[in-house]
Amino acid sequence: MIEGEPSRTARRVAVLRAVHQIRETPKVLDDPLAVKIIGPDAEKKIRDNPKRYETMLDRPLRAALVSRARFAEEALAAAIGRGIGQMVVLGAGLDTFAYRSPLAPKVRVFEVDFPATQAWKRKRLAEAGIAQPPNLTFAPIDFTRDTLEAGLERAGVDLGRPVFFSWLGVTYYLERDTVLATFERIGRMPEGSEVVFDYSESVRGQSLPIRLVFRFLSWRVARMGEPWKSNFSPADIRTELGKRGFGEIEDLDADAINQRWFAGRADGLKMRGLVHFVRARVGR
Ligand SMILES: C[S@@+](CC[C@H](N)C(=O)[O-])C[C@H]1O[C@@H](n2cnc3c(N)ncnc32)[C@H](O)[C@@H]1O
Repeated sequence: MIEGEPSRTARRVAVLRAVHQIRETPKVLDDPLAVKIIGPDAEKKIRDNPKRYETMLDRPLRAALVSRARFAEEALAAAIGRGIGQMVVLGAGLDTFAYRSPLAPKVRVFEVDFPATQAWKRKRLAEAGIAQPPNLTFAPIDFTRDTLEAGLERAGVDLGRPVFFSWLGVTYYLERDTVLATFERIGRMPEGSEVVFDYSESVRGQSLPIRLVFRFLSWRVARMGEPWKSNFSPADIRTELGKRGFGEIEDLDADAINQRWFAGRADGLKMRGLVHFVRARVGR
């Protein structure tokens, strides 16, 4: 992250979510605010030049973004069914969950993000006329400087009760130790707490075309000031979560994600590559 500047990758993924709403049917993620939150200029760019977003890199990335949000929201619905009443969105970016989902009023929502990204989001929300719901609290935190503990306490999260954490599109940009420290803090939450996050496998040992795509994408995010810093193997993720108090662990690779949310689409939209989605629950 660049000091004092909002996340450029957050902006980029928000634009791709808007492309999904404007151009793709059926919706993997139904997000009526996705277009509104990016603003009229960004919307116009999409409508003026839609082909620009149909590249072999943007389509699978878009598939990943919309399905990971869907994954988190399906897991949250089940968590609410188990009695969970608090949700923390870590690295929220321009995510619109709290402002549009019928699930949102059922939980207290805490949006935690890099201070400059959060300030920019609040400005975007005001400009778009999207009201802050009464059950939403903002908590600015830099994961590399503040402990998650301090941030959550400051925001008023009840650490004595189970919490559902949504942590999408963030682990890539953090050092391994920061990711593990976050597992560790969430793993100490009351039993039944849950986290949904995504991660990338290492590109080492992959085919040449995959290595080339990976190299290009990592160059692109580094140029945006947000280089990729960590990756994990599925075995590594299980071991590290297992050591920190997580029992039930669901880890979906691209094939599993495609089967679940992209089967039978006429437009061929689907995930590719090394990204996994994980849902992990605290407790044995
Ligand atoms: C790719 S965006 C994902 C945003 C959102 N979760 C989504 O899916 O649209 C990455 C997010 O991680 C946040 N982030 C990255 N590094 C961070 C840090 N050190 N502290 C706090 N937030 C950070 C950025 O501000 C940004 O909101």
